[in-house]
Amino acid sequence: MSARIVVVSGSARDESNVHDVVRIATTSARAAGAEVREVLLHALALPIMDPGDSEQAKLASVQEVRRSAAWAEGFILVTPEYHGNMSGCLKNWFDYLYPELAGKFAGVIAVTGGGSGDMSITAVKNSFAWCHGFTLPFHAAARGTDFTDGALHSARVMDRIQRIAYDVARYAPILGRAFDEARSLGDGQASGVAGLH
Ligand SMILES: Cc1cc2nc3c(=O)[nH]c(=O)nc-3n(C[C@H](O)[C@H](O)[C@H](O)COP(=O)(O)O)c2cc1C
Repeated sequence: MSARIVVVSGSARDESNVHDVVRIATTSARAAGAEVREVLLHALALPIMDPGDSEQAKLASVQEVRRSAAWAEGFILVTPEYHGNMSGCLKNWFDYLYPELAGKFAGVIAVTGGGSGDMSITAVKNSFAWCHGFTLPFHAAARGTDFTDGALHSARVMDRIQRIAYDVARYAPILGRAFDEARSLGDGQASGVAGLH
């Protein structure tokens, strides 16, 4: 069975360096044998999550976000770095989710102006962990100078993105199976965190 992976684009813009990184991540995950869906947040027009608005759950964009996340075993999350953090639209994606990410696995990639990406990568990993997901202890960051006209030309960054895609495809199904088995034990301590979901 091939891994089910969702690649999330955290850019709100039609023209962004993020898009080439998403393309490379998707191509690489498919090369690793995964079944891949993309969630392109600039195309979804997801409203700001309002926990008091029960009507939001009926929106096609919200249903797409929740359905795709529930389907996935693993994620490749690509964020532009905004003020040392993930983009607002990627954080908004997180805010619609919680049980859909528990026991899942993610690799994280940042696209920055010139920074190292550490801040936004850490932010994404924190949010994923707070949704009870696990992240790859390896990540990638592409700076503005790594692109020409929106195309990534850094062989080093490309190599890291490809390694992340292979690792997410490799580990996500293993973790998913372990989490499902743990959940089948019920809510006792032996089920670990899975028993709380
Ligand atoms: C509001 C804002 C904040 C930004 N903050 C940072 C930052 O903290 N560090 C950095 O290296 N680049 C920063 N940048 C540059 C973006 O990370 C970079 O241009 C990225 O490619 C933007 O992706 P986008 O085109 O999808 O918006 C910022 C850009 C914007 C618009």
